[in-house]
Amino acid sequence: MLHLAYQCEGEPDLDEALHRPELEAQSFYLLEDGRLIAYASVLGKAIVHQGSVFSLGSLSCVAVCPELRGHGLGERIAAAASDWLRGCGRYDIAAFSCDAGLLPFYRRSGGWEAADAVLVANEDENALRSDKLGKAVVLEPLSEQARAAEASFRGAAVNLDLPPGEFI
Ligand SMILES: CC(C)(COP(=O)(O)OP(=O)(O)OC[C@H]1O[C@@H](n2cnc3c(N)ncnc32)[C@H](O)[C@@H]1OP(=O)(O)O)[C@@H](O)C(=O)NCCC(=O)NCCS
Repeated sequence: MLHLAYQCEGEPDLDEALHRPELEAQSFYLLEDGRLIAYASVLGKAIVHQGSVFSLGSLSCVAVCPELRGHGLGERIAAAASDWLRGCGRYDIAAFSCDAGLLPFYRRSGGWEAADAVLVANEDENALRSDKLGKAVVLEPLSEQARAAEASFRGAAVNLDLPPGEFI
């Protein structure tokens, strides 16, 4: 379903794990007659920002099967994942990137707002980065530690320390 939703070329590789176990994915889904029709996940990882470690939770793989879009399923699944991300107590920061056109959708679904920050996949000079990809960034401090460091994220490039080719 994700393969269809994201219009990936070719056949999906069903043997491939959807999320690396290290990311401790929390998955949310809607089924209709046993068929997956909407999906969202929260992925977690540690990042180091200006010498401090923060646990980062990211909304990821939000998708509704193409023929059922426009009926609120996306908002429902994104709202469930957003509520969990904010409320689970695991994460210092919520952060993810998305197409700028989807900001109203994420604002409605989870109250997310665009932030003045750039997400960078890793330290490689050719690393994927939200500004080069033309993506908007959502970054919200959740814990006291992150709120105290909020100013340090403003206008900053945040290194996600992800393997090559991976992005959030
Ligand atoms: C984004 C997505 C999950 C929305 O699912 P949905 O069930 O259609 O969402 P809802 O019915 O709750 O909301 C639809 C609203 O989102 C908007 N929307 C959906 N996709 C959009 C896009 N790519 N760009 C801008 N707005 C978009 C619609 O215009 C609509 O807004 P409106 O109510 O003001 O007309 C679905 O379009 C999808 O699976 N897209 C492909 C995967 C994807 O891009 N995921 C997001 C990755 S960051």
